Amino acid sequence: MLKAEENERLTRVGPGTPAGELFRRYWQPAALASELPEADGAPIRLRLLGEDLVAYRATDGSIGLVDAFCPHRRAPMFFGRNEECGLRCVYHGWKFDASGACVDMPSEPADSLFKTKVRIAAYPTFEAGGVIWTYMGPPEREPPKPDYEWMRAPATHRIISKTFENANYLQGLEGGLDTSHSSFAHNERLGDRNWIRNRDGAPRLDVNRSDYGYSYVSTRDVGEDGLYVRVYHYVMPAQQMRGSVTSLMGGRAETPKLDGHIWMPIDDEHTFVYNMAWSYSGDYPITPEYAHEWESMNGRGVDDHIPGTFQLKRNQTNDYQIDRQRQKTQTFTGIIGINTQDYALQEGMGPICDRTQEHLGTSDKAIIATRQLLLEATDAVAAGEAPRGIDPATYRSVRPYDDYVPRDSHWTEHFKGELLAKW
Ligand code: FES
Ligand SMILES: [Fe+2]
Repeated sequence: MLKAEENERLTRVGPGTPAGELFRRYWQPAALASELPEADGAPIRLRLLGEDLVAYRATDGSIGLVDAFCPHRRAPMFFGRNEECGLRCVYHGWKFDASGACVDMPSEPADSLFKTKVRIAAYPTFEAGGVIWTYMGPPEREPPKPDYEWMRAPATHRIISKTFENANYLQGLEGGLDTSHSSFAHNERLGDRNWIRNRDGAPRLDVNRSDYGYSYVSTRDVGEDGLYVRVYHYVMPAQQMRGSVTSLMGGRAETPKLDGHIWMPIDDEHTFVYNMAWSYSGDYPITPEYAHEWESMNGRGVDDHIPGTFQLKRNQTNDYQIDRQRQKTQTFTGIIGINTQDYALQEGMGPICDRTQEHLGTSDKAIIATRQLLLEATDAVAAGEAPRGIDPATYRSVRPYDDYVPRDSHWTEHFKGELLAKW
């Protein structure tokens, strides 16, 4: 349970708010690289941390990210002409480069110096891991660029996608760091003892703080297969990584991999979830067929989307197409798609969950640790200090893992060498 003031502090992300300023100390995912496929192509509208922006791929392939409104008389830059390394407002022709400088002002006399005085707000960008990243904080505080393992895996061994979530980012992040719900919400085989997570619904949790956030280990006793141990990482401010090396039916997965999400606030009440998966090693390429199967299992395959959007067809307006018969006989929720199940539960809490009304139990240890770290980090930023998670020395190397471990051995022995990046 949180005090109302703490809940506000953690969930508001606009400029000048404590969490908003915290998010503005990190490079953040602004869009998928595939949303801007061609140089001089059509710009896209983005809303990031409550700010309306327009992104475009310039003539040289670099990405411009500027205020959605022209600094002249606030016309929409979205309709602008993307040409010769800049975006030109179509109201009076003022043109801005990616740094925000006004490079042409054809509506003023040729000898006017006015254009040297006008800028459009612009944020730096770079592209890596199939994602366009931006830094929206004070320039003098810009941290090193992120370089997580999944960003280094080649495109042939990686999946990256994005899904709209109609709720505050913290509901999504807390869901991602809550291992216990997967035995319930994501139980796809009611009563089936072969389904590993049916065998122990109350995992033991160990949370270990680190300079990027924490790692945590969940241990389930799964009978004849011994212990099922899964290592997750929380990378501040809103990323989760976890092992998906094993199959949910026991043994190794056919395509062993690691996966995770980043919850990027659109504004206080809406989120884009970036979904990553990357192969355990070069021996396991991710084929387009497998990528499709994985995305569909999570409820976000191409057929699951409202065409041309990042929104799912199974959503709040149709109760996620819950099937009550299926819920009685086949799956715990009766909702198709692992992440669709998450959205049903998280969006249904309301746009911003009222955490003053909660009753947290022992299975919520990781959730509590997340909130503590975020609250401490907002204090650090307010005091002019750097938050955790901006030092590449550690976040470059973190790798999650999961496996079955004999009951008489300790997982740390067994996992040796598996928790360091291989890409
Ligand atoms: S409003 Fe953009 S050039 Fe005038
Ligand atoms: Fe989930």
